Amino acid sequence: MQKIRGGMKYLIAIAPCSILCTLILMMACSAPPDGKTVFIESGCTRCHEIDGSGGSQGPRLEGLQNKWTPESLEEFLTDPPAYAKDNARLLAYIKKYPTPMPKLEISPARRKILVQYLLKKYP
Ligand code: HEC
Repeated sequence: MQKIRGGMKYLIAIAPCSILCTLILMMACSAPPDGKTVFIESGCTRCHEIDGSGGSQGPRLEGLQNKWTPESLEEFLTDPPAYAKDNARLLAYIKKYPTPMPKLEISPARRKILVQYLLKKYP
């Protein structure tokens, strides 16, 4: 009898913890990924440096608010080669780097996260 009571106490003690854990897990899974994670997961660091790590096959990202609006940056990220072909500034970059920026498969939702993130991080 004593043993069973002990077991009940234990159960009562862990029940709130497991409910809390489940809630935290659910929140973590449904939260949108942050911009830096999307940047890394999309393969951008192959060519661009971010926070001191990443490649140098693409230009340094800086002063983006002078060059892009949210709309134009989104259009560029959707299809960089198509966008760059009538843009003198981007064409000049392309001459400097080994390959032009490729078209990467990114969902529209993740592209929006990238645009917001980059314009804020590199104003
Ligand atoms: C294979 C290398 C490569 C990869 C991968 C790459 N880029 Fe680029 N990126 C470039 C090059 C080269 C340019 C210069 C313009 C061009 O090629 O169109 C550029 C240009 C840019 C620019 C414009 C910079 C400016 O000064 O206006 C932005 C913003 C950018 N890249 C963001 C990204 C993001 C976000 C990703 C990931 C989704 C990414 N790049 C992936 C090589 C790359």
